[in-house]
Amino acid sequence: MEPHLLNCPTEKWLESVTVEITSEIGKCVKRCGHCSLVLTGGSTAESLYDFWAINKSLDYSYIHFFIGDERCVEVNSSGSNYGMIARTLFSKTDSSGLVMNRMEAETDDREDAALRYEGLLPDSVDILLLGLGTDGHIASIFPYSEAVQEKFRTVLVVDGPDPFKKRLSITPSVIKKAKIVFLLATGTEKGEVLATALADPNNIDSMPVRLILDARWLLDEKAAIPVLAAINKHRLKNDNRIRIT
Ligand code: 6PG
Repeated sequence: MEPHLLNCPTEKWLESVTVEITSEIGKCVKRCGHCSLVLTGGSTAESLYDFWAINKSLDYSYIHFFIGDERCVEVNSSGSNYGMIARTLFSKTDSSGLVMNRMEAETDDREDAALRYEGLLPDSVDILLLGLGTDGHIASIFPYSEAVQEKFRTVLVVDGPDPFKKRLSITPSVIKKAKIVFLLATGTEKGEVLATALADPNNIDSMPVRLILDARWLLDEKAAIPVLAAINKHRLKNDNRIRIT
């Protein structure tokens, strides 16, 4: 396991993260002609999607978009992750050539929607974006939930916190099989969550983010401070398992 940290000034986070992610998208497109990119919900990602739309950071024609989790609400609801993505990332482009595979979580038959989405997902997605909940959840894989231990399904109907209790989410197997996983986390509070995760790396049930201790953590300096302190404290650095750029 070799966690890789990006640690950049808060005011440079959007720009630095964009360079990291678009560089990997470019390599993937050069190699395969296209790139499967799984988007996440959350306000951290929303700021990044806004930045990408304004700066035209992505060439959408080579990207097959997916989503890691979705609330069981109408697309035009404020809680819809796809709705947020459409209002930000796709707001400044015509959707004609767009390949966006959204989760149809608003349907009455949620299990059918989950099964259909399993059929859309590639066996190994190229790039997976994840946000971090302050309880250590990623996607809609919440602490002590059945989804944490799921070994076979790739998409499940899950329970989350109110006000968006019912959701669809990818499972750990999709995360583990992803070629590249980027975790988006800024601010001291998220850094402290990650520091706690590093302190007890094997207790995945209580903090599902521990599924991705080997991912690429895209942190601003505020989040990086507690993470680096945890690394130094637990002497992970001496194991050479942590590469810091
Ligand atoms: C969701 C998100 C969730 C989110 C984290 C971080 O549907 O709620 O996918 O996993 O990424 O909760 O959210 P913030 O960036 O708003 O803290």
